[in-house]
Amino acid sequence: MKRIVCTIVVFSFLISALGVAQNKNKFVGVNTCACHNLAKQGKQVDVWKKTKHAEAFTVLKTEKATEYAKAKNITGAPSEAKECLECHSTGFGQEVDKSFKVEMGVQCEACHGAASAYKAIHNKPENKEKAIAAGMLKADEKTCSQCHGENKMHDIKEFNFKKMWEEIKHPMPKG
Ligand code: HEC
Ligand code: HEC
Ligand code: HEC
Repeated sequence: MKRIVCTIVVFSFLISALGVAQNKNKFVGVNTCACHNLAKQGKQVDVWKKTKHAEAFTVLKTEKATEYAKAKNITGAPSEAKECLECHSTGFGQEVDKSFKVEMGVQCEACHGAASAYKAIHNKPENKEKAIAAGMLKADEKTCSQCHGENKMHDIKEFNFKKMWEEIKHPMPKG
């Protein structure tokens, strides 16, 4: 009997350890991406701050936002509504680290994946495969269409990837 109990205990420990491993990807927030503000990296953080994505959460506090929410019978603040946060914030409903702030709107990890598991390794080119295995995403047009495609909450501009990418692109310097 003792043996069976022990086996069960060990087994459930293994399962929970696996569970932890699977869930360890958390959204850490743009402040954790400060290396990307170095000139030699391409200052992606500065570029991002000037895009509308950095305001995606605060825009939910405008009159226009209240109007949109009312039209969809959303009671309560749009800035707390699931229906709006899905596109106006990052990683909605998923695990976040204590460094994460919803106020940051649509930040790096909305397109590049939750970074807790890859942030420490992705800076070395030779670690690229490992970083991808740890959740780093190669963003492309499909990434955009999660939020710029069909929208049941309000009308949006037609999405033209080429044109809109020009407005938010943030390349690494060549060389
Ligand atoms: C499917 C994704 C998606 C959802 C859900 C969504 N939005 Fe938006 N929202 C966008 C995008 C994309 C834009 C950028 C404007 C554009 O491309 O036309 C935007 C822009 C806005 C703007 C600023 C531009 C304008 O039209 O005045 C406001 C305000 C806004 N949304 C409020 C809301 C509110 C409130 C909700 C919830 C009721 C909501 N959004 C839900 C994707 C979404
Ligand atoms: C709206 C989506 C989106 C957001 C937000 C975003 N990126 Fe990107 N990023 C992309 C896409 C698309 C590419 C081009 C394809 C790729 O390399 O993944 C890219 C490329 C990059 C590259 C590679 C550039 C190169 O020339 O190799 C870096 C580094 C990067 N992003 C960092 C960041 C950082 C840091 C932030 C936040 C401050 C950020 N990104 C925010 C979509 C985004
Ligand atoms: C997580 C949702 C999300 C993703 C993914 C996303 N966006 Fe956005 N995007 C938004 C929201 C929300 C706004 C509106 C923010 C505001 O008006 O304050 C916006 C606004 C924009 C704007 C400004 C539009 C305007 O009204 O001037 C551009 C350009 C843009 N996005 C490009 C892109 C591109 C290119 C990609 C993919 C590489 C992308 N976005 C991916 C949510 C998203």
